[in-house]
Amino acid sequence: MYKDTFMENIRLKENIFWVGAIDWNVRNFHGHTYATERGTTYNAYLIIDDKVTLIDAVHKDFSQGLFDNIRGIVPLEKIDYIVVNHLEPDHTGSLPELLKLAPKAKLYGSFKCKEGLEKYYFIKPDFQVVRTGEVLKLGKRSLSFIEAPMLHWPDSMFSYCPEEKILFPNDAFGQHLATSGRFDDTVDNCALMDEAAKYYGNILWPLSSLVVRKIEQVLKSGIPIEMIAPSHGVIWRKDPAKIINSYLYWGKNSSKEKVVIVYETMWGNTAKLASVIAGALMDSGIEVKLFDLNASSRTQIIKEMLDAKGFVIGSSTHDNDMLANMAGFLELLKGFAPRERLGFCFGSYGWAGGAVESIENKLKSFGVNLPVESFSVKFTPSQEEIKSCYEAAIQFAKEVKNVLRKM
Ligand code: FEO
Repeated sequence: MYKDTFMENIRLKENIFWVGAIDWNVRNFHGHTYATERGTTYNAYLIIDDKVTLIDAVHKDFSQGLFDNIRGIVPLEKIDYIVVNHLEPDHTGSLPELLKLAPKAKLYGSFKCKEGLEKYYFIKPDFQVVRTGEVLKLGKRSLSFIEAPMLHWPDSMFSYCPEEKILFPNDAFGQHLATSGRFDDTVDNCALMDEAAKYYGNILWPLSSLVVRKIEQVLKSGIPIEMIAPSHGVIWRKDPAKIINSYLYWGKNSSKEKVVIVYETMWGNTAKLASVIAGALMDSGIEVKLFDLNASSRTQIIKEMLDAKGFVIGSSTHDNDMLANMAGFLELLKGFAPRERLGFCFGSYGWAGGAVESIENKLKSFGVNLPVESFSVKFTPSQEEIKSCYEAAIQFAKEVKNVLRKM
């Protein structure tokens, strides 16, 4: 039997429990595309009613923890329903084993989820396809389903419990954040919002128009939301509006007087220019974040770019082109489809140039506006060249401020 303090930490409402897993040590997600410096959680929820219902499962490596957590409340064989809001293996890896231990469980999810589960795990479970507006009665409570394709996979779905006013949106509103507290009022809120922004920037940014449309559709429907229980990180019970409003802000490609400088340097001259540019922007009252690409987490850089009006990109020249890691980074950034941003390019070259032109072309290819002529220098920048670089950056700061003033 669990101790009272532990039950308090996992109880969302009477007879609704968190039964997931905390992955304190994972440092990379989606292969190596997402750095999870603060770990993550795989959230699963158990509703005890006339029908015992599990909402989502966990990563395969944490199956035993899920089973033990459920057994602390109810025997596994008592599970009647399993709602699968999303097929990805961090939420379904434990399902094939669980289905052996909970033989009467019937699954509910989207059509694509059914299709994907069968192909992923070569299983044919008892699976009921559900669509938006369909309701599953559990007893005193019910679950209403909302299809949410591409938030963030085609199979994604939200479940909503109207009697308790809890939204279970799976990945949406989540954070890769391993904590001992399960709720937004029991964890460090700076870390929480930092991870929520990182999650949005690195997973949902390219899907922003769909995110905004889905949130506005849910808000317009008038369903009251007192709690949001995502599949990663903490549960929003104190202030669910905070994360909803943040999603609307990020989803609308909002940006502020902030510039992110990212550079890759061979012999330190491009780094020197980056430092001059940062000084000029700070002198202009602009918030600046500066990253040496090879010393920084790309996940963190993308998170900072999410709400920055300006992108300043620099590279030394190598083989008449930008350095290879910068080329890879800009390809990654292109995939996030940032809109309405201003760019400024810079770099040092040796016997021949090429990097700055390549960066310009890349930024233009995904719609970044370049209002100020790029700055490049041969070998080491002289005092005069440093002054010119500073002045170009001051001009860029003015353009950033002007554009935001007109909005
Ligand atoms: Fe957390 Fe899309 O899986």
